[in-house]
Amino acid sequence: ITKSEQVSGVCSVAYGESEGCSSSSKILIKGGTVVNAHHQEVADVYVEDGIIVSVQPNINVGDDVKVIDATGKYVMPGGIDPHTHLATEFIVSETVDDFFSGQAGALAGGTTMNINFVLPVDGSLTAGFEEFAEKAKTSCMDYGFHMAITKWDETVEKEMEIMVKEKGINSFKFFLAYKEALMINDELLVRGLKKCKSLGALPMVHAENGDAIAEAQLEMIDLGITGPEGHALSRPAVLEGEATARAIRLAAFVNTPIYVVHVMSIDAMEEIAKARKAGQRVIGEPIAAGLVLNESGIFDPSFTVAAMNLMSPPIRKAGHDKALQGALATGVLQLVGTDHCSFNSTQKALGIDDFRMVPNGVNGIEERMHLVWNTMVESGLITPPDYVRITSTECAKIFNIYPRKGAILAGSDADIIILNPKASFEISAATHHTKSDTNVFEGQRGKGKVEVTIAGGKVVWEGGELKVVPGSGRYIELPPFSYLFDGIDKLDAKYKSSLGAPVQRFKAST
Ligand code: URP
Ligand code: ZN
Ligand code: ZN
Ligand code: ZN
Repeated sequence: ITKSEQVSGVCSVAYGESEGCSSSSKILIKGGTVVNAHHQEVADVYVEDGIIVSVQPNINVGDDVKVIDATGKYVMPGGIDPHTHLATEFIVSETVDDFFSGQAGALAGGTTMNINFVLPVDGSLTAGFEEFAEKAKTSCMDYGFHMAITKWDETVEKEMEIMVKEKGINSFKFFLAYKEALMINDELLVRGLKKCKSLGALPMVHAENGDAIAEAQLEMIDLGITGPEGHALSRPAVLEGEATARAIRLAAFVNTPIYVVHVMSIDAMEEIAKARKAGQRVIGEPIAAGLVLNESGIFDPSFTVAAMNLMSPPIRKAGHDKALQGALATGVLQLVGTDHCSFNSTQKALGIDDFRMVPNGVNGIEERMHLVWNTMVESGLITPPDYVRITSTECAKIFNIYPRKGAILAGSDADIIILNPKASFEISAATHHTKSDTNVFEGQRGKGKVEVTIAGGKVVWEGGELKVVPGSGRYIELPPFSYLFDGIDKLDAKYKSSLGAPVQRFKAST
């Protein structure tokens, strides 16, 4: 261990090549219940050089192998967080978590890969990619990138192609909100959807009506509502429902799959349900905060608490959380992200006099796996295989890296967690491993604890100790044309019935 730094009240992060367990390249996990999205069974898992070599009962090994007893525990694929903002400058401030600190927290919470959003630099995708590739060099777990599209011209179109064909990006995010910053209009969205379709890249949307929000924000200020509650009041669920419906219909018009990020309301969820029922390929991603919190946080009399809860779309009234849980349990929504976009209370205080200046975002990269287990499995809503599907496997499939990721199968990457269903967790800023001085889930507790995390074949979290190495995480290229594009060409006729040959008409004779 070359350097050690105290990052929390209870345990430390060790930097550099460390001795002992984390450098062992051979690991046997014995006697646990191995859970995949398709099946669970009691079996041993043998790992060598970062790869799962074998999954079967009673594997015998030599004594150069680290053996971990998982009897009575679940052995599952590490979580994949499809939605994070590490090391990101967001309008007024830079997120407090960089790749290393965010991923250290992720590993302590059972997530072994994240897909981070890249923002273009002055509209340049190439410059944005390079900036984030540089920032990500401190990564301690595997990661991929999504790219945001914030303007449109021939250069952007060409760069999208380069991103997909040469840089390992297979998804682009379009913001229908954040007017005068990231927001795009419908014309650009339609062009972007078409381009995505031609590249086999998945369009993602931040679905809120930015024009209506800008109006509502002015009304709030006129009314003298300058506190964080003004943020919630100016972004009602109806505006999320409207934009979700619009984006989904435009995706139908283009006949492309579409992915709705951070589904926060019943309004948005119902639009997704309706489209899916009609056979449209729409993916809906709720986030940890939307599943377990409600708007009481942003109405809290403490500015710090209220600002900590401020994100877009806002965390909704009680009731939306339960509805989103139900939708996730029944397959209306498919996978859980976090939208981890963390700021310190001092950064949030930039908006002390005006909610429009509070940096948007909440944490979750470290907490998601525990919260989802407790809320969804411990409550009886879903089974452990469903849990694996919504926290890992479905994400790997959508972003086209399954079964390398998202499975405990021979040949898969050794990204593995051991969860003890009898142990409990409690969340606090005093003990978390990410950097913010607050935690939006402060005080939440529940059943199910990730006791061991193995990332890239190394034990990085065990016995409450993190052993993470900056630079050990790899950039995972995400190939285009995931399963969501299979057969899309055959469906063109269904959605584009109005396109065809011109009607032949006789010339009117005079
Ligand atoms: O408030 C949020 N969600 N911040 C992150 C940016 C985004 O819109 O995803
Ligand atoms: Zn700790
Ligand atoms: Zn967003
Ligand atoms: Zn986001």
